[in-house]
Amino acid sequence: MEKALRLLRDDLTAVEEHFTKSMHSETALINQVGQYLLASGGKRVRPMLLLLCARLSGYQGADHIPLASVVEFIHTATLLHDDVVDKATLRRGNPSANVVWGNQASVLAGDYLFAKSFSMIVEIGNLPIFQTLSEAATLLAEGEMQQLVNSSDLDLKEQSYLEIIGKKTAALFAAACRCGALLVEDGPRAETLRQFGTELGMAFQLIDDALDYVAVEAEFGKTRGHDLAEGKVTLPLIHTLRNATDTDRQRIIAVIGQAELPETDLAGVLQIIERTGGIAYCWQQAEQLCGQAKARLNDFADGPEKKALLELADYVVARRH
Ligand code: IPE
Ligand code: IPE
Ligand code: MG
Ligand code: MG
Repeated sequence: MEKALRLLRDDLTAVEEHFTKSMHSETALINQVGQYLLASGGKRVRPMLLLLCARLSGYQGADHIPLASVVEFIHTATLLHDDVVDKATLRRGNPSANVVWGNQASVLAGDYLFAKSFSMIVEIGNLPIFQTLSEAATLLAEGEMQQLVNSSDLDLKEQSYLEIIGKKTAALFAAACRCGALLVEDGPRAETLRQFGTELGMAFQLIDDALDYVAVEAEFGKTRGHDLAEGKVTLPLIHTLRNATDTDRQRIIAVIGQAELPETDLAGVLQIIERTGGIAYCWQQAEQLCGQAKARLNDFADGPEKKALLELADYVVARRH
């Protein structure tokens, strides 16, 4: 990500200043909860994508800063809600907001950020951008709901899983990329960048789901094994269940959705997943999607922006946090 970070240094500083300013509310608790998460050092992948896609499209104005800030606001709102839904305890290496302030404050702060995002979009005054981000927020909620409905369903098909992650994660990646282009024009390039974002977003979630099983917790900043404990059926597990023996299947059934999952149970399931190639398969699918995403940029002129986007795409599958 070095190239992207270097290229975007000034823009990213402006984005950080913008969302700190925009976060401000008369209500102290909103500031505390919002600031806690915003200042806790996320990777800022979505704003980076937006900024790079705007530059790649030749954008010369100033709206890319508030727009990148909006995308991170929406992401932050979804994390506040997601950690309540997933009963998470760790986020970005810190106790998650739901642990510090409780579910109620987290949900309400998330609502504030969502609502605020939309007033920020209105100020930008570009209808296709408004449409794109509203659609992404709608898909995101649908994806999270579909995932909830499918909790602990060991018959969940790969196709349904892909549909869920397409909505809950890739939709916002796609919107970030498309909006970067929309700052210049609503044409075929905006569509190509949307597809680039979709494939990259899918790859991003596949890696997150693999890391949930195999990451080093101190690097990942989230609890390892949490998806299994929460009954979240993700691609490593789906692939494993396709190849599992009856005994393996019974061992998985015995532990899935157990909130207090002992380390030995997780290790047992992880062994089954490794043995049946669940992690390798998930990684391979992510790499394939990342390759597809990168190929979308073939028609764009070579230059520092394209180079940085390609590097950012590689980072998505190489990351360990
Ligand atoms: C976390 O997103 C939610 C997923 C889509 C997996 P990120 O991994 O981008 O979170 P931060 O912002 O860097 O913490
Ligand atoms: C992504 O899914 C959540 C959102 C898109 C909000 P996860 O539930 O896997 O994300 P993490 O692991 O909590 O970051
Ligand atoms: Mg979660
Ligand atoms: Mg996850």
